[in-house]
Order: sequence, then C-alpha cells, then structure tokens
Amino acid sequence: MIQVEGLTKIFKDKKRGKVVAINNLKFECQKGQIFGLLGPNGAGKTTTLRILATMMVPTQGKAEVNGFDVVKDANKVRRHIGFLSSETGLYDRFTPRETVKFFGRINGIEDKIIEKRMAEIFRNLDMEDFQDVRVNKLSTGMKQKLSIARSIIHNPPILILDEPTVGLDIITARTVIEYVKKFKEEGKCIIYSTHIMREAEKLCDVIAIIHQGNIIAKGTLEELKKNSLSDDLEEIFFGLINQGENLK
Ligand SMILES: Nc1ncnc2c1ncn2[C@@H]1O[C@H](COP(=O)(O)OP(=O)(O)O)[C@@H](O)[C@H]1O
Ligand SMILES: [Mg+2]
Repeated sequence: MIQVEGLTKIFKDKKRGKVVAINNLKFECQKGQIFGLLGPNGAGKTTTLRILATMMVPTQGKAEVNGFDVVKDANKVRRHIGFLSSETGLYDRFTPRETVKFFGRINGIEDKIIEKRMAEIFRNLDMEDFQDVRVNKLSTGMKQKLSIARSIIHNPPILILDEPTVGLDIITARTVIEYVKKFKEEGKCIIYSTHIMREAEKLCDVIAIIHQGNIIAKGTLEELKKNSLSDDLEEIFFGLINQGENLK
C-alpha cells in the first residue's frame, strides 16, 4: 500500500548549506503491517513521513500511497491517510467533541457516522471523561489522544504516525500502542516512526533503522538479529552506527 523508491530530500539551509535529510530511501508497507522507522533525532523520520503525507515534495525519487503518487495525486493520497505529527494543530477553544466533529466534516463524513465513530474512538482511547473540556485545559497526553482521534475520524486505510508516544506518560503511551495494534488487526497499513527501540521491537513487523538520512538496516526483528551478532535491538542499532563511523 506504500511504496517508496529512491526517496531523497535535500534542504538548502542558510547556515548549514546543503542538508541531505534523507538519501535514496527504499521501502514498502503492506496491508495489516506496521512498518517502523527507527532512528535518533535528526535521522530523517519526520521528513520521510511528511513527504508520504503530501506535506512536502521530495527532491528526488518516488513515493506511492494506495497506488497514488504523493506529488501528482496529492489530493487522492490525502483521502486515504491519517497523518499524526507533532505539528498536528488543535484549536484551543474547541472541545475534543467539537474538534473531531470539525475534522470529520472537513473530510465529508455524515454527522451520524461521525458520532458513531467518535464514540468508539473516545472509548478506545479512554477520552470520555474529557470529551467536553476545552483544549486549552487539557494535559499533553490528553491533547495527543485528541490529535490521534482527529487524524483517524475518516477511518483511513493508511496511518502515518510520527513519534505518536513522544512526551506521553507510560499509561497513555500504552493506550496509544494498544490502539495502533488494533488498527493493524483491522488490516490497516501503518508507518510508525520512533526513537524508542523497545517500542519498535514490540510493535513493528518490519523495522528500518535510519541514521543520518540513510536506511542502514531493514528487516523483521528476527532478520535484524540474524544478520548481527546480537539478540538485542539496541545492540544491533549501536553496532550498525559504529560500523558506519568506522567506514568513514
Ligand atoms: N525545513 C528544513 N530546513 C532545513 N533543514 C531541515 C528542515 N527540516 C529538517 N531539516 C534537517 O533534516 C534532517 C532530518 O530532520 P528530521 O526529518 O526532522 O529528523 P527526525 O524526525 O528523524 O528527527 C535534520 O538534519 C534536520 O535539521
Ligand atoms: Mg521528527
């Protein structure tokens, strides 16, 4: 459902000059699969996901989402994805119910269906207690849950989640992770970025380790373990990074 080939983004930064944020990425993600993009800050995760979500165009390469090109068919791509990032905006003066309703309507969904889906989402994300409290009175975790709710109200087959648990307490993070698993069981195709190895390990069917804009390893957890000397994703990760440094 997602196919990426040769994807490259180069920023021209006044201070730093040319910044190769991502370099020649290649990967794919199928229905019912969670594809993890695992890497430290600045690795290129957000850039990749923003391109897939049509928020940014690549410098080179190609990405298709549900058969549609992210540049040429951006509008069609948008209809099939739910995109969650730290920039997902919320209106301070709306309540969660009003927010989700608003985004449901923007996506052309009937009110009756919005109400039904909203009730289900609020139940699953444990949001019922604060569904009528204004956004400016919500905690970080509550806002994050609301951002998730608003990005999935149109029931998209593809989810693009950029570090969805960042800044969350362990209970909220767990609720979010369980919900992502449920989506996978429903057959959605999910791209999930994180810098937390335990999370990638628990959740992802395929993991791509991204470092300084390059995918330096890719495979199932089993494959990654087999191709390295270690059983532990953290060891594999640092092993790969050190190898890269030694080659320089
Ligand atoms: N708009 C931009 N202008 C210049 N450089 C950028 C811009 N956005 C991202 N970058 C750079 O691209 C690299 C990758 O960033 P990003 O994709 O945000 O990484 P991650 O999400 O993995 O932390 C970093 O070096 C970052 O500074
Ligand atoms: Mg990021």
